[in-house]
Amino acid sequence: MSIRFDSESKTFTLYTKNTAYQMQVNQVGHLLHLYYGKKTGTDNLSYQYIPADCGFSPNLYEIRQNRMISVDILPQEYSGANTGDFRLSSLEMVTKEGAYGADLYYRDYKVLPGKYALDGLPALKEAGSRVETLVINMYELITGTTVQLLYGVFEEEDVITRAVRIINDTENTIRIEKVASACLDLPFGNWEMIHFHGRHCMERMTQRVPLTRNIQTVSSKRGCSSHHHNPFVILCNKNTTEDYGPCYGAMLAYSGNHKTDVEVDQMGLTRMVMGIHDTQFSWNLDPDQSFCAPEVIFTYSSEGLTRMSQTYHRILRNNMMNSKFAHAKRPVLINNWEATYFDFNREKILKIAQKAAELGVEMLVLDDGWFGSRNDDNRGLGDWFVNEKKLEGGLNPLITEINKMGMKFGLWIEPEMVNEDSDLYREHPEWALTMPGRKPTMGRNQLVLDMSRKDVIDYLDECFSSILENHNIEYIKWDMNRNMTDVYSHAAPANRQGEIFHRYILGVYDLLNRLTTKFPDVLFEGCAGGGGRFDAGMLQYCPQIWTSDDTDSIERLTIQYGTSFGYPISSMGAHVSTCPNHQTGRTTPFGTRAVVAMSGTFGYELDLNLISEEEKEEVKDQIRRFHMYYDLIQNGTYFRLTDPTENMYFTAWEFVSENKEEALLNMVMTRTRANANPAHFWMKGLDPDAKYELRDVHFAGCSLGVHMEHIYGTPEKGKPVYTGSSLMYAGFSMPLMSGDYPSVQMHFVKVG
Ligand code: DGJ
Repeated sequence: MSIRFDSESKTFTLYTKNTAYQMQVNQVGHLLHLYYGKKTGTDNLSYQYIPADCGFSPNLYEIRQNRMISVDILPQEYSGANTGDFRLSSLEMVTKEGAYGADLYYRDYKVLPGKYALDGLPALKEAGSRVETLVINMYELITGTTVQLLYGVFEEEDVITRAVRIINDTENTIRIEKVASACLDLPFGNWEMIHFHGRHCMERMTQRVPLTRNIQTVSSKRGCSSHHHNPFVILCNKNTTEDYGPCYGAMLAYSGNHKTDVEVDQMGLTRMVMGIHDTQFSWNLDPDQSFCAPEVIFTYSSEGLTRMSQTYHRILRNNMMNSKFAHAKRPVLINNWEATYFDFNREKILKIAQKAAELGVEMLVLDDGWFGSRNDDNRGLGDWFVNEKKLEGGLNPLITEINKMGMKFGLWIEPEMVNEDSDLYREHPEWALTMPGRKPTMGRNQLVLDMSRKDVIDYLDECFSSILENHNIEYIKWDMNRNMTDVYSHAAPANRQGEIFHRYILGVYDLLNRLTTKFPDVLFEGCAGGGGRFDAGMLQYCPQIWTSDDTDSIERLTIQYGTSFGYPISSMGAHVSTCPNHQTGRTTPFGTRAVVAMSGTFGYELDLNLISEEEKEEVKDQIRRFHMYYDLIQNGTYFRLTDPTENMYFTAWEFVSENKEEALLNMVMTRTRANANPAHFWMKGLDPDAKYELRDVHFAGCSLGVHMEHIYGTPEKGKPVYTGSSLMYAGFSMPLMSGDYPSVQMHFVKVG
């Protein structure tokens, strides 16, 4: 039993393999948060909280003579508002009389086998794991509603999920002004926050900042989780490293507006509140209706950041992704975007496909520009019928030809958008989000469809279902290329406009759910101008997401590094593109581009007819290696060996199979120096007592130094063999690798 309730002390304790989480109902009925961290005994941990009379921290009417108890001081499980806790609120509601706030009292609880689900929202599922659900029913005194605090306890995985459901069992409509998914109070300790900020072509840059006596916010009001702030934060100790020290991960499984506030209060308590952004949010909850706030996936590691990331990688792969491709092998693809942009026709595409097929690529993805009048990015979105001027006879003859080459076919779509210059907009201008009396703000010259409308979702469902039913399409790239402004629905009344941001994302999930359920054999890749909607919510439907529009392999090192803190390698779309790179102008060795793209879903995004004969041979070898290492990369355990934001000379990372039988070491030199020290790194995750043969080595883009015996061995002695402990504790020095951005991939296999 992972959930225990002690009725005498009214204490709930949730246990996972290595962690404990405790809450207690106090004498007035408030639910206090007592602890989350490394597994403890069965003690009641309330002894940590010494009552104190703190000036200007208010007391409850019922116990007004006891000034030692204040909601402003005590750690709360889910904080209220306007009733004495001046710190971050989790919930704010308004009655029909205009009374504002939230005051939560414990009513009862139940423990359910398995994992709760949330209406219309992605959430981790049981998927064979041992899971229990705790539902704590709280009574909210101001509105009279029931607030359910939901907990999913994944015992083996060391994961605790949280979500909130508000049930209006009153006779009046209640307005919700703010509803966080979780509040986490850490009463003791000095914490730092790691978060992932960025911009287009520079997603998930890692930043670590100390928490100070104020509020720090990570948020997006762009209508999507965004390039700019990922809905994932880590709180850790000042001394926490990859392998040492405590850290908490909090990941919101939501793709819309989000906000995480972290406050350090007057007494030094740290409070984190995470959920839907409250700006431009208000929800009218009618009688008998309920509202679900999205799920937060928590994990705690006492052994540093690597363990935390590995927990997320496993749980997202096993318990979030609904697609059969979470585990099934994905094809190596070629995408025509950077090869042609909008300038293509049937012959050009077939020529690209033909060469790719010859070299071993398994799928061609036809990107933007195949439909309507889409000859540039100013028109055509919404007109999802093929442009026969480019592709005579439609998609089917093209697909037939590509299938004949032995390749699968995939297609790009951008369902949520419309151009003014499109038949769809001319017919249904009211389907776009625009404000009455104001010209809409444009982004890439396109407008956003009102995905909060059922008629829009039904139309898109019909449209894309018909495309998928009538063509042999085995992959869809679902793009989204602007942020949301002018958020006003022409179908909703004035008092419901505050619901549109959230209803929009519910509509996106609805459409994704309909299509992925109807077409389970189609692999869906998410995309939003690169990685602008890379979040756990999208992973439910799309097991892979295009990580960034920046395909420069050196830039990708930092982007993929940041992304790896929360998201599995198998979810990161990564391609080899041409050089000079289209985003940065940088030239990198062909092999280095492949090493970086292989630590992702792997594919190509260039015209392979235009590369040298030598590079064509390399493509064959890269694909051979990717197949050979596929399982190790996609399902193995991932280790960051260096931090590219700190080590400017080289970046190294590693995969180890679950059974520690093999490991793949990857390294890219990011700055070559004269008279340099060799790059030295310490491997991780190996069996210290086992012997590992360095079986395969692949250098790219360099002239090598002379000391190669420890890499290649000798004809007499054979390949070099090292013990796991030597590789991990003494480490490994690379020979000098000169040239710009050389790389190496080394495959170690256990031999004894
Ligand atoms: C943005 C995507 O990230 C690109 O890969 C490409 O699909 C373009 N959109 C097409 O418009």
